[in-house]
Amino acid sequence: MKEHETAVELRDIIKNFPGVRALDGVSLTLKKGEVHGLIGENGAGKSTLIKTLTGVHKPDQGKILCEGQEVVFSGPLDAKKKGIACVYQELNIVAELNATDNMFMGNMKKKGNSFFLDYGYMNRKTKEVMKSMNQEIDLTKICGNMGMGQLQMIEIGKSILQEAKVLILDEPTSSLGEQETKELFKTVNLLKEQGMAILFVSHKLEEIFELCDVVTVMRDGKHVVTMDTDKMTQDDLITYMVGRSLSNLYPKVEVPKGDVAMEVKHLSRKGVYNDVTFSVRKGEVLGFAGLVGAGRTEVFRGIFAADPVDSGEVYINGKQCRIKSPGDAIKNKIAFLTEDRKGQGLVLDEPISKNIAMVNMLNLQKGLFVDDRKLKEQAENTVKKLKIKTESIEKKSGDLSGGNQQKVVIGKWINTDAEIFVFDEPTRGIDVGAKIEVYNIINDLVKEGKAVVMISSELPEILGMCDRVVVMRSGRITGEIDRKSEDFNQESIMRAAWEV
Ligand SMILES: Nc1ncnc2c1ncn2[C@@H]1O[C@H](COP(=O)(O)OP(=O)(O)OP(=O)(O)O)[C@@H](O)[C@H]1O
Ligand SMILES: [Mg+2]
Repeated sequence: MKEHETAVELRDIIKNFPGVRALDGVSLTLKKGEVHGLIGENGAGKSTLIKTLTGVHKPDQGKILCEGQEVVFSGPLDAKKKGIACVYQELNIVAELNATDNMFMGNMKKKGNSFFLDYGYMNRKTKEVMKSMNQEIDLTKICGNMGMGQLQMIEIGKSILQEAKVLILDEPTSSLGEQETKELFKTVNLLKEQGMAILFVSHKLEEIFELCDVVTVMRDGKHVVTMDTDKMTQDDLITYMVGRSLSNLYPKVEVPKGDVAMEVKHLSRKGVYNDVTFSVRKGEVLGFAGLVGAGRTEVFRGIFAADPVDSGEVYINGKQCRIKSPGDAIKNKIAFLTEDRKGQGLVLDEPISKNIAMVNMLNLQKGLFVDDRKLKEQAENTVKKLKIKTESIEKKSGDLSGGNQQKVVIGKWINTDAEIFVFDEPTRGIDVGAKIEVYNIINDLVKEGKAVVMISSELPEILGMCDRVVVMRSGRITGEIDRKSEDFNQESIMRAAWEV
């Protein structure tokens, strides 16, 4: 293989936050024409490393070199000017505008010296850039009406427009479906061939092997290893990440099933889902599989009364319930662990302790007041149980790493006295070790006779952990497969999720 030129290099970077050293002497070299994977447990320092590269954080010590020259970024704009672009998980897209406006945001092209914007040029350029990534774009469409995959492409397009030499992708596939992920990989490979240096962060081991030429593993703010991916196995990678090998990724327990805990009949919402009927028993883990957009989350938002429902019935322990608000749902002992931790799951400005107490304040009350000691005790226990990486339960939730925020969302609900737990993409964005923790929590719940619904786009996880799986496609149930059936496999589920 030919040696690639260095695009950017980090040398012995140290970055401290109050009470924590997020980067502890990390070095990393990104080369042109190479896809470099970055992996590590939640809180290992990946996002901090990225933010150092993009000028968001200033390193306390260490050097950054662009094409061999030492640079000091005064801020994100400066890093951008030097050719470093980043697509964060929270995209920088304005939903009301179209692709061109988003692409040229802050950088609008004027006609000569006039005040008029040169849309002719900008539209042409937008099309051209998208075409260079093999993407068709509809300029009459506002971004709010586009899928996650296409929005990411627009963000990547922005970096091409700025003639970036380095493109950083922080967990780009966590909100993409299978097809969109394929598209993204094609584009990344295309950019690589054109000589871009790409840094790719993911918790999905298969993706690292599929896409990356080299991979760097981080642990506790330190660099562990950088190695060619074709010289290592998945087990090696896990061992580098976690510090030990993990033999059983899906520690499923089977417990005797009890009565039906919840039954849903003919639930419909016009244009969203139609005639959805299913039930889940005590002691059972029921999976909901399907493509992104199949309507799975929407069904449970309907049951939980987070959104209106047109028709249908919900029975809990055999009795029909009228759930009119999320408060009603909680009273009926339904817990809903949402997939969107930023939007619905967490109050980012509040400390971990308050977030964990959020849905079960009543249990923590002493007379009219909240029992502060109890609240803290509960938070401490939860942090320990879920191995949330933080120096203190008083840390702002927003300052936790992405995966640790997800754990707080889980912590918030497992302390309630709910009987029915709906987990929506529970392991999105969390590392392999923590995934097993989440599965163990699910095991504990069913052992206590609780009913668990797990919505997941990751089939290995559905197959590994569920007793039964319901498959949805375009708002309808298109399959139901029991663990004991010979059809309980990837192909059958995919068929039910795809076929027209
Ligand atoms: N703004 C901040 N203030 C205080 N601490 C922070 C801040 N940002 C990150 N940290 C801490 O730095 C450490 C590294 O966090 P970072 O977000 O880099 O992890 P990560 O590897 O990206 O994890 P994940 O896989 O969960 O996204 C964590 O202990 C985190 O709590
Ligand atoms: Mg992160």
